[in-house]
Amino acid sequence: MPKSKETNIIFITRKIPEVAKKLLYEEGYAIDLWDKEEPPTYEELIQRCQKADGLISMLSDRMDEAFFRACPHLKVIANYAVGVNNIDLEAAAKNNIPIGNTPDVLTEATSDLALGLILNLTRKIVPATQNAKQGEWKKWEPLGFLGMELKNKTLGIIGMGRIGQSLAKKAQNGFGMNIVYSSRSQTKEIDPSFKRKTLKELLQSSDIVSLHTDLNPSTRKLIDHKEFEIMKKHAYLINTSRGEIINQEALVKALQEGLIEGAGLDVTAPEPLPLEHPLFQTPNTLITPHIGSATLEARNLMATLAAKNIIAGLKGLPLPAGL
Ligand code: DGY
Repeated sequence: MPKSKETNIIFITRKIPEVAKKLLYEEGYAIDLWDKEEPPTYEELIQRCQKADGLISMLSDRMDEAFFRACPHLKVIANYAVGVNNIDLEAAAKNNIPIGNTPDVLTEATSDLALGLILNLTRKIVPATQNAKQGEWKKWEPLGFLGMELKNKTLGIIGMGRIGQSLAKKAQNGFGMNIVYSSRSQTKEIDPSFKRKTLKELLQSSDIVSLHTDLNPSTRKLIDHKEFEIMKKHAYLINTSRGEIINQEALVKALQEGLIEGAGLDVTAPEPLPLEHPLFQTPNTLITPHIGSATLEARNLMATLAAKNIIAGLKGLPLPAGL
């Protein structure tokens, strides 16, 4: 669209579902879309944001104090993610920039993926698939690929927000699992059949531990050497939140030494995880490339919500999903 002097410019740092553009165009905004395969570097991000009024950012875009100082023109940021650990929220507040995210709309997608990792690991689906594909399926094996049933097993959920509770319901209602959880805050209205525990009690009693907490100074390396020491030897660790919540060196050691049975990781530190990283060589480890919210349904709703956050912010209204 031809840009008049007052037209607001929205910088979108990656291609996202078209619905976002449609909503922004309807408001008469101009869109500056980063359409390369590689995300913008920090410098490129700043350069483009110096001319932008609104920004739809990805979780891989870093926005720190220097970024906000360099982009005084910016009026609102809509992060295309529920997690906002890529943004210095204090610096944003100091610069009066409202920040939006995408809660709720990716809850089911992410808890589905956590369940997918659990089922894949406990039933050895990936190695069994490889076995069949590589011509090793010669006969039916009475003792081959023996896994663990979920019924009556204990699922420990660390961080009982929306995604944690969604997983808890699916695991309890669909698979007959017992649910325990640990949470820093007493979240309201948690189903009383889910039992609250200290982190230590949870780790000691769970057959599967799933991480659903946000990344902040108190959760960085929350799962470290001493946590692996107290987990059950046959336990699995699932992470669909942020890689930094686990000390990965400690995880590699725990997997190599059999302190736990396996791990399902949708998130790592860094991302992408370099191919030579020892985690790719550890036994019973599944690594997916941060696909927690990767469903058509979730991504369309995320794009819609991000656009609505931008529109509200530029009109000086409270963001529909503001922090
Ligand atoms: C988020 O939105 O924070 C998720 O990690 C995306 O999958």
